[in-house]
Formats: sequence, structure tokens, C-alpha cells
Amino acid sequence: MPLVTSTEMFKKAYNGGYAIGAFNVNNMEIIQGVVEAANEEKAPLILQVSKGARKYANPVYLKHLIEAAVETTEIPICMHLDHGDTFDTCKDCVDMGFTSVMIDASSKTFEENIKITKSVVDYAHDHGVVVEAELGKLAGIEDAVNVADKDAQYTDPRQVQEFVQRTNVDSLAIAIGTSHGAYKFKGEPKLRFDILEDVSKRLPGFPIVLHGASSVPQYLVEQINEYGGNMPGARGVPEEMLRQAATMAVCKINIDSDLRMAMTATIRKYFKENPAHFDPRQYLGPAREAIKEIVKHKIETVLGCQGKAFD
Ligand code: G3H
Ligand code: 13P
Ligand code: ZN
Repeated sequence: MPLVTSTEMFKKAYNGGYAIGAFNVNNMEIIQGVVEAANEEKAPLILQVSKGARKYANPVYLKHLIEAAVETTEIPICMHLDHGDTFDTCKDCVDMGFTSVMIDASSKTFEENIKITKSVVDYAHDHGVVVEAELGKLAGIEDAVNVADKDAQYTDPRQVQEFVQRTNVDSLAIAIGTSHGAYKFKGEPKLRFDILEDVSKRLPGFPIVLHGASSVPQYLVEQINEYGGNMPGARGVPEEMLRQAATMAVCKINIDSDLRMAMTATIRKYFKENPAHFDPRQYLGPAREAIKEIVKHKIETVLGCQGKAFD
């Protein structure tokens, strides 16, 4: 099956009360681990490439690796730009054959966000590509945006209808208390489901996206710390909260940090236990397996999209 947009995936996910996993990919092993998991689970899949991933791997390499995934599987795969920060980055991805782009102008004013989002939507739609935008500000660090806790802002549900009408965007990321990275909550984890509920009442049937949705499994934190790492107090979004969001209007759940941690925990342990080994395949193979395992777990326990690839 050729690359697809997320349009059909989201329609079915919205009506079926599940979500599609959007996994960040940066190299061959990550792509293979994620894709093998989705393929075995017969799950629809979004592979997303951030600005940092483009810089690290060269977008042409990532594009061809994703095309290799498409060629070797039957499941629907959407190739998405994560946190595009300018019109030009989005245009570049549309021109390269991405089927979905995110324009993240959430740090700008409401009017500026609308203006830049609409310009991306106009260009992308002319080329058969769908667009995700963001309203509200998530705390946390990513390559393109660094929002301090004090500057984070929940999405204002009163703005969403006007934003969607004026931009014609296809999906919307909202801020309800998740954040990027491995340190999401100092106290009790709390998500503003009331905001999600309010947004979905104002935008019936419209797909909502949740960023910063890693769960930071404690067994991985422990393994990383046991084998020489230092991640004290790392904490993510409880899985049952994500599951709840997936039964509501959330159709796309973004996961990156958990993959990084699975890979790091595996490699740290491997190095400690096999100090004489120096062939990268020896430790990248198990790291790829760990990614596959965690993605399968997400699909079954958090997303609920197993077996939905050919519905
Ligand atoms: O949302 C951020 C993603 O985790 C991507 O992070 O910009 O470091 O690739 P990155
Ligand atoms: P995490 O850092 O929680 O994995 O979030 C990833 C993300 O939102 C990518 O856009
Ligand atoms: Zn994000």
C-alpha cells in the first residue's frame, strides 16, 4: 500500500474510540522496530520526523527508509513532519512526498498562528497533503521550541472553532497538561479532560492530537539508572489517562521519549554485560527489539488500534 494521509485513519479512530500512534523516527533501527511492531499488530501507523531528526539524519535518508517500510509491509503508513516551524520547512516536506505536515506556530499570537497555519494549509491541500496545527503551549524541550513551565498555557476552548474555520486545518494539537520529554509532572499527574471535552463539543467529529504523551515507564528509568544513567524523578503520563483520551476525541498520540528510553536502557545494560563487544549490530539489534516491544505494548494497552489496519 502506498503512503497514505491520516484522513481515513482519523475518521475510523474517532468513530472507533481508539487512537493512532505517531512515533518519532531518527534512524533505521527505530523505523524498523516501530514498523515491525505495527505490522505484527496490523495497526495503522504514523511515522513522524522532527526538525531535529531532519538535521541528524538528512531528510532524504529518512524519506527512503520510510519508503522501505512501505515497500516491505501492507499496513497504512502516514509520513508526517513533526513540529514544522516555518512555511518553508513544511513546503519542503510536502515537495518531498510527506503525506502530512504539522505547522507549530503555537508560540505566536492567535492571529499570527492563523496566518501561518492557513498559508501551510493552502499549499499542502493543493498537493493532497493534510495539516496539523497547535493551539496552546506545551511545556518542555524539543529541537524547535523550548517552553519553560511558567510559559506553558492550556488551550482556550473558546478559540478552537474560529481557528479551525479560518485555517481549514485537518487536525489540532491541544495543551491539556502533557509536556515534552521525560520529566512531565513534579506532583500527581493531572490532565485537563474538561478542556478536551469542551473542545470536542465545539468541534464535533474533529480529530484532536496529544503531544508529549510518553509514559516514561518506571522499569526503564530503573534500568537506565542501574546501568550508569542518571534520570532521577523521570515521570510520564499514566497509561490509563492516555487510554481515556483515546476513547474521546484524541485520534493521534505522539510518542518519542519512551522510544529513546527503551533504546538507551537496552544499550546501557548491553554494554555493562558485554564489555568486550564492539560490533554495533550486537547492541543495536536488541535496542531495535526493545523498541518493537514497547510499541506493541502501546498499540495494545494505550492506543487500542491493534487489528484496525484493514478495517
Ligand atoms: O516533540 C518533540 C519530539 O520529541 C522531537 O524531538 O526535536 O529532539 O527530535 P527532537
Ligand atoms: P514525548 O516527549 O512525551 O515522547 O512527546 C513526543 C512528542 O510530542 C513529539 O511531537
Ligand atoms: Zn510534540
